[in-house]
Amino acid sequence: MDKIAASNKVKLSMVLVGGLCSLLLYHLKKKINFSHFFLSKKWFSEFSLMWPGQAFSLEIKKILHETKSKYQNILVFESTTFGNVLVLDGVIQLTERDEFAYHEMMAHIPMNVSKEAKKILVVGGGDGGVIRELCKYKHVDSIDICEIDEMVIDVSKKYFKEVSKGFDDKRVNVFIEDASKFLENITNTYDVIIVDSSDPIGPAESLFNQTFYEKVFNALKPNGCCVSQVILYIS
Ligand SMILES: *[C@@H]1O[C@H](CO)[C@@H](O)[C@H](O)[C@H]1NC(C)=O
Ligand SMILES: *[C@@H]1O[C@H](CO)[C@@H](O)[C@H](O)[C@H]1NC(C)=O
Ligand SMILES: *[C@@H]1O[C@H](CO)[C@@H](O)[C@H](O)[C@H]1NC(C)=O
Repeated sequence: MDKIAASNKVKLSMVLVGGLCSLLLYHLKKKINFSHFFLSKKWFSEFSLMWPGQAFSLEIKKILHETKSKYQNILVFESTTFGNVLVLDGVIQLTERDEFAYHEMMAHIPMNVSKEAKKILVVGGGDGGVIRELCKYKHVDSIDICEIDEMVIDVSKKYFKEVSKGFDDKRVNVFIEDASKFLENITNTYDVIIVDSSDPIGPAESLFNQTFYEKVFNALKPNGCCVSQVILYIS
């Protein structure tokens, strides 16, 4: 009897101590906002110059690749909930989880507008996502891609196999150069031109002014169309 009473007492005091600790932790959590304070886990936060006053964060599971190419910093990490993530100069370009939304919209709208497009140019787009969508059309004869940074293509082929698989299509021709130069002497050639660039701060800078769009206009066939990832400024 005594033994049982004693062990019950031990159990009771253990429960009490446990409860007290939980209570303490609960108050501590409330006070220092524990959920934003896990030092053991790493986070990637994007503070883009384009969007002052806000940031976007993803939890990092593993850093897969980190280099500096001739043009920019290239980072690839595996995130906890968005798959692999491609970051150029600190700005997220795509995540495996939601890249389809952007790439499908970039490719299928101009393809629908232009009916039977045969010859297409992609400016930038080194990850290959837009190309993958374009390759779904049997009536397309050729897809030229002009990407300034070869390393983006290499990294995408290695870490984003599902995004970059379009590079294997025989209709795809890769040109590693500045699109502004590439388009210099090209006239009346493309049915569709898709400008899939990064932000206007960095290597894509020359793709954001009138001179460039005049070249795009000249490179299009009479009923051709162009779609671009444009950020509008109001100054
Ligand atoms: C464009 O989209 C409409 C609506 O989905 C579809 O019926 C039509 O076949 C598409 N046209 C082309 C050329 O893809
Ligand atoms: C465009 O044509 C001009 C004149 O023929 C030539 O000097 C220039 O090198 C060409 N540019 C490209 C990128 O081929
Ligand atoms: C557009 O940018 C290119 C490359 O930076 C430059 O050579 C060209 O003069 C610019 N054109 C205009 C209209 O600002």
